[in-house]
Amino acid sequence: MRHYLKLTTNISMLVAMLGLGWGFTNNDPKPKVEDEKMNEFIDSLINEMTIEEKAGQLTLYTSGWDVTGPVLRDDYMDELRAGRAGNLFNAHTVDYAINLQKIAVEETRLGIPLLFGLDVIHGYKTTFPIPLAEAASWDLEVIEKTAHLYSKEAASAGINWTYNPMVDIARDPRWGRIAEGSGEDPYLGGLIGAAKVRGIQGMDLSDPTTILACVKHFAAYGASQAGRDYHTVDMSDRELRQNYLPPYKVALDAGATTVMTSFNEVDGVPASGNKYLMTEILRNEWGFDGFVVTDYTSINEMVPHGVVADLKEAAELAFNAGVQMDMQGGVYSQYIPELIAEGKIKEATLDEYVRQVLEMKYKLGLFEDPYRYLNKEREQETLYSKELMDHALLAAKESIVLLKNEPAKGQSEQLLPLKKSLNSVALIGPLADNQKDMLGTWHVAGDETKVVTLIDGIKQTAPNVKINYARGADFNGDDRSGFAEAIAAAKKSDVVIMAIGEDYTQSGEAASRSEIGLPGPQQALIEEIHALGKPVVAVVMAGRPLTIEWIDENIPAVMNAWHLGTMSGPAIAQTLFGDHNPAGKLTITFPKNVGQIPVYYNMKNTGRPFDANNKYTSKYLDVSNEPLYPFGYGKSYTSFDYSGIELSSTNMEMNGSITVSATIKNTGKYAGKEVVQFYIRDLVGSVTRPVKELKGFEKISLAPGESKKVSFTVTVKDLEFYTRDMSYKAEPGDFKVFIGPSSAEGLEADFTLK
Ligand code: BGC
Repeated sequence: MRHYLKLTTNISMLVAMLGLGWGFTNNDPKPKVEDEKMNEFIDSLINEMTIEEKAGQLTLYTSGWDVTGPVLRDDYMDELRAGRAGNLFNAHTVDYAINLQKIAVEETRLGIPLLFGLDVIHGYKTTFPIPLAEAASWDLEVIEKTAHLYSKEAASAGINWTYNPMVDIARDPRWGRIAEGSGEDPYLGGLIGAAKVRGIQGMDLSDPTTILACVKHFAAYGASQAGRDYHTVDMSDRELRQNYLPPYKVALDAGATTVMTSFNEVDGVPASGNKYLMTEILRNEWGFDGFVVTDYTSINEMVPHGVVADLKEAAELAFNAGVQMDMQGGVYSQYIPELIAEGKIKEATLDEYVRQVLEMKYKLGLFEDPYRYLNKEREQETLYSKELMDHALLAAKESIVLLKNEPAKGQSEQLLPLKKSLNSVALIGPLADNQKDMLGTWHVAGDETKVVTLIDGIKQTAPNVKINYARGADFNGDDRSGFAEAIAAAKKSDVVIMAIGEDYTQSGEAASRSEIGLPGPQQALIEEIHALGKPVVAVVMAGRPLTIEWIDENIPAVMNAWHLGTMSGPAIAQTLFGDHNPAGKLTITFPKNVGQIPVYYNMKNTGRPFDANNKYTSKYLDVSNEPLYPFGYGKSYTSFDYSGIELSSTNMEMNGSITVSATIKNTGKYAGKEVVQFYIRDLVGSVTRPVKELKGFEKISLAPGESKKVSFTVTVKDLEFYTRDMSYKAEPGDFKVFIGPSSAEGLEADFTLK
């Protein structure tokens, strides 16, 4: 066995000899010469490695910072020194990570640098809106910039790999992880996923402000039955391919370098042992050439899933399914040597897997400089920089969705925006003066002390308005002892702002809920405040759609403000007081009640679509089929009129295209932005088609009185689907097109595909 120093010298000599260039871009075809150099380098490294060291490169352990679950092993330091742990996660800050990297580089036999992963889901230190919120901006540039900025911030603190984007389509708001994705639509979900990949990875991975992205959770994790986390997923291959897989594919086509498996089974086989997903689809059909990491201990979990009898069988199943890296399970490290010796897995495959991991380390530039991401000065300059904080505010404002805005009782003007000349407002609710919960789920390193609360936001925005604050109620239990103080505050104020919703633990992983109304005594509180007859604005902050039908019926102004991160307070206050005109649109349907779930806009028509005059049609006896707020819905302080839908032709050839346009006019008195949405319906298919599918959108800005013509081009790509024989193509026939302000309203026209 050679001494590690000798080998590390070899690595640096190799680096020098080969004159490694760092001009890799993840989007462009790779220059051949660079490829050859990399391959030569990696080949010689793999030649030096023992089986144990190879298994080590396929092993990822969490640092002692227990964030996402139980830590299976506390001896990872020894594993690291022995070269049996090639990657770590949850180890961040330059001070902390640098010592671990030093151990890998200086104390292991081969000196291979570590990957440092982290769930930078919507921010590192500076926390941006939760993903479901930011999706409501429908602004791909804003989203890409957010992803770039949080990656840059995390990269300055030692992180070179993030487990983002999460592109799981979700139609069930009981599922707590709905907060982490972009909602229910595969088309929009793919575009957002791709924007995040571009933001995270940039054009050049060797740039130390860019890091590896990881598309997750492959696959169909969002379809967990009954919205219960980690639960079974069972769907047809058609449904999987038509609605659930596209966002993963689009995000990978944008250059994502890694993929994470999901906890769930798909068609009876847990994703981490699912060869159909990991090899047939991902590698063979899609040509993915990065590496796959499991979700947290999900190889081990194949034992309780019941597809393997023990961990060794689990390791074999995962390995042979096409999974490269074991997150936190320790089973690859433990069983790969035996499995190789027994001929159950092939060493050539092992080498291939190791190559896929080492390639990423190489492309990040870690062999050239393992400390590339570990620069204390850069960290200090980057954390909470003005650039980050400014964009956190902008992204938060763009995420807010105005759900309702009517005049308060006895008034003629819409209640919002509030006037800065008001004498006083009552600010009531558990989210009014609350830093921690504004951060939302997955605020891994987010620092609550930096959060600007709503109360402080209002003080900054409307300094002359007196604020009568009362917490009023909590998120859990039924303690009503704070109601009296809240009622007193409301009574002495001109307007009441209710800051209500979920705390940060009530959505996210392992945070499914079977009832999704306002938790704790908040519903009772708002009913008592409403009874006072004061004008009330409800600001609902939550990680999921809440069933707020009572609020919609009784409260004149309702704003959905999700969990907006570090700059929540100013974003909400500026919107309440009219410095910002809200333009967000929901990317997830808000149900009226839990019984309607799943309720989503791109559903099928059924053979008995609802007809009020016919009992035997598809409906409920106790609630309508319509959701509370549909996909794509969101209001503005101004109003928009849609008119004049036009088609360039009512006939389209298979290889041709048509344009569909309409004019949108700002008919109100405020300048505003509008997300103009374009949907298509395929009237007859060899298999049934959804009643509508989003195929385009444009976010436009209009001054009062201004109008703009917005056009969408239709090509055959927009009309393709998995036909009866599962070929992906368009079928001739009649189509409807819709241009509108949401999935439930708009102008219609027809065309025929020849
Ligand atoms: C989650 C993943 C996450 C991982 C690492 C798991 O529990 O499902 O989304 O990336 O932990 O923290």
